[in-house]
Amino acid sequence: MAILIDETKRVLVQGITGREGRARTRLMRDYGTNVVAGVTPGKGGENVLGVPVFNTPQDAVSSLGQIDISVLFVPATGVKEAAISAIDAGIKLTVLVPDRVPVWDAMEIAAAAKANGAMFVGPNTLGVLSPGKAVVGMIGGRAESARQWFKPGIPKGVGVISRSGGMASSTGYYLGQAGVRISTIAHIGGDAVLGVRIPDAALMFESDPLTEAIVIFGEIGSSQEEELAQLIRDRKVTKPVIAYIGGKAAREGTRFSHAGAIIEGGRGTHAGKVKALREAGATVVDAFGELPGAVVEILKKLNGQSLMSEADKNAVWNTAVTRIEPNRVAVRGYDIAELMGRVSFGAASYLILTGELPSAPVGRLMDAILVSSIDHGATPPGALAARTTASTGASLSAAVAAGIMSINRHHGGAIEDCARQLKTIADRAAREKISIEDAANRTLAEMRERGGRMSGFGHRIHTKDPRTARLFELAREAGVDGLHMKAARAVEKSFADAKKALPINVDGAIGAILADLGMDPAAFNGIFMIARTPGLIAHVIEEQTREKPMRRIDPVKHGYDGPAPRSLTTNKHE
Ligand SMILES: CC(C)(COP(=O)(O)OP(=O)(O)OC[C@H]1O[C@@H](n2cnc3c(N)ncnc32)[C@H](O)[C@@H]1OP(=O)(O)O)[C@@H](O)C(=O)NCCC(=O)NCCS
Repeated sequence: MAILIDETKRVLVQGITGREGRARTRLMRDYGTNVVAGVTPGKGGENVLGVPVFNTPQDAVSSLGQIDISVLFVPATGVKEAAISAIDAGIKLTVLVPDRVPVWDAMEIAAAAKANGAMFVGPNTLGVLSPGKAVVGMIGGRAESARQWFKPGIPKGVGVISRSGGMASSTGYYLGQAGVRISTIAHIGGDAVLGVRIPDAALMFESDPLTEAIVIFGEIGSSQEEELAQLIRDRKVTKPVIAYIGGKAAREGTRFSHAGAIIEGGRGTHAGKVKALREAGATVVDAFGELPGAVVEILKKLNGQSLMSEADKNAVWNTAVTRIEPNRVAVRGYDIAELMGRVSFGAASYLILTGELPSAPVGRLMDAILVSSIDHGATPPGALAARTTASTGASLSAAVAAGIMSINRHHGGAIEDCARQLKTIADRAAREKISIEDAANRTLAEMRERGGRMSGFGHRIHTKDPRTARLFELAREAGVDGLHMKAARAVEKSFADAKKALPINVDGAIGAILADLGMDPAAFNGIFMIARTPGLIAHVIEEQTREKPMRRIDPVKHGYDGPAPRSLTTNKHE
């Protein structure tokens, strides 16, 4: 987890067509933020970088369903109306980037948020960033820099709360340089009336399992740091708090950069905040430069999981697939020795491709998919290419690679194409509010008119592919029967109604099942390659041991002289 923002949150950008809204939408998406819509009154129907623009937040929600966060790049005068319209549309978090928002407007936004059980960050905020996950607002600038500066909390990180925008980024940067991982950086804004304040953010970090310590960049003015001290005293915040308070030299009555940073009537002084926090048990450093070192010291004492190894600290790029350390190999976080002997190859393939282990039935289904495509005789292009290359005296790797290289759109590639076409049919049914059968009929009719063809249906040899029925049976056992499989049945019915015997083939079945498992279609042909490799190796070795080099290979005229049909039950393999 993290607080306020992560990659699962659906984000709306208000003012998306403006200068800053447009630029920040690109940067936020580059970093991983799921921007689903934009709003600019009068510009509904347009799109910015492919993101649909609506006239109001309510239009966006009505059209696209629930939206979690709205971020505003609307000039100050329009903020009140824009924020309240987002809150009224049921959006539970609004991030107010603009500066110079009138105090009275901020108070009205606060009242609307309270009445609707919503929250807001800002105004005058640089936003919130959860490293490696997503950002709303402006923190970090370019995605590439943000990735280099702020290291994600894996397995844990420290939470950063800052009253200064620039120092929110700097604190994150210097913590990263010192080898500290971060769960979320929240710039709460510098105005007098704020939505999320230091105590609120601290309580969120307290209940965030990813966060193990809280770092504060505070400043003079307001009572936020004193309230945090009270929460620590009341043991409502129990995680270590390490703080720096800016504005030591500020005199009473002088505003210190931000509207909210002012000492009035002796309240909100630097000395008062430092004393309150120290007495409550927090660590307060005297100079900003001491902050990262103090955080490291406290994490070391805790044996903190937010501290990076030297290798991670010096890394210039990252991989999330496998971690290699002396005497330890961890695939997607799992020790390989623990996986070995306990997890099937199909389940391990699912793990490495999706990042998570499958349930036992889905693991069996993955194995079945790999087994189903292990070989299909000597006639497919892959086997022919591998055998032809092998017959030239090529190495095993070159001959197998030739076979793999023949796996393309028309050989094996039907898996991915079919999955994408089935998704188009399922999406169409939802969009046009028609049955999936009607969506299949209309899509196939249009395809016929264009001279296109549906991938994954029909077969050169089989009229009823023996592998398909078994795969669907195992999918049902695993509880997998989503929209893609429904669309596949609708396509089969549409072909049957048109008196065309084009049942779904093994590629189509695999495509539908993998898509219903939620896997990324970009990997589907790769799964076919994984499955087919043992078959290709067998063909190459047979070619090189049984046949003469450079023979003429007839693609069709060959017999079979392997074992007679036999069964697992009689051979006791199960
Ligand atoms: C918010 C801010 C970034 C906007 O600046 P900008 O992008 O240059 O402004 P633009 O005029 O180009 O764009 C604003 C857009 O909002 C739109 N807009 C106005 N009212 C709106 C509303 N209620 N809902 C949605 N969009 C609205 C405008 O129509 C405009 O889009 P258009 O250009 O397509 O017409 C700027 O006013 C600001 O506050 N900057 C300071 C931010 C800052 O420093 N924050 C604190 C960091 S510490």
